[in-house]
Amino acid sequence: MDLIEILFPIASTAHTLAAVIWVGGMFFAHMALRPSLMEEQPPTRLRVWSNVFPRFFAWVWLSVVILPATGYAMVFVDFGSFAAAGHHVTLMHGVGWVMVILYAVLFFRPFSKFKAEVAAENWPAAAAHLAVIRRIVTINLILGLLVIVAGVSGRFWG
Ligand code: HEM
Repeated sequence: MDLIEILFPIASTAHTLAAVIWVGGMFFAHMALRPSLMEEQPPTRLRVWSNVFPRFFAWVWLSVVILPATGYAMVFVDFGSFAAAGHHVTLMHGVGWVMVILYAVLFFRPFSKFKAEVAAENWPAAAAHLAVIRRIVTINLILGLLVIVAGVSGRFWG
């Protein structure tokens, strides 16, 4: 068994798990948690989000490191180049970095302001920052679902 035979299944599995954790977490937050919390009063709702985000974002940071690392490993060690990997991988690469940049913006701007406003119990300002976070998560959720479709189906058309 050579290096490629060992590396590809490990990289591909880690890549898929990271995608599932990140995109699945955004799907749950947007489609299940958010509508459920809309029934609560702002202080409760905003405090729950301020407890949820740090726990989820720790996993997102891990995913954000694993996805490019395993992605580049598959491209350069297994396929040899982006040209050999196919158009779907080039698309995934571009959209993947847009997702990472949007996530970093979310984390360092609206999320850090949201945390400060929740700590100060300034609920209207916290809600305004939460609305920005929600918009970015909605965009990243759509991009993430598209990237997953490209990732799993691309070998048939890429
Ligand atoms: C630097 C960014 C990325 C690179 C270089 C990259 C590269 C790759 C490569 C080479 C494959 C194998 C394609 C094939 O076998 O035809 C793949 C598959 C896949 N990618 Fe990515 N990817 C990146 C980002 C992402 C992101 C952000 C997601 C989702 C959030 C994602 C989800 C997937 C999925 C679900 C698969 C199919 C399962 C697999 O083969 O591992 N990728 N990616």
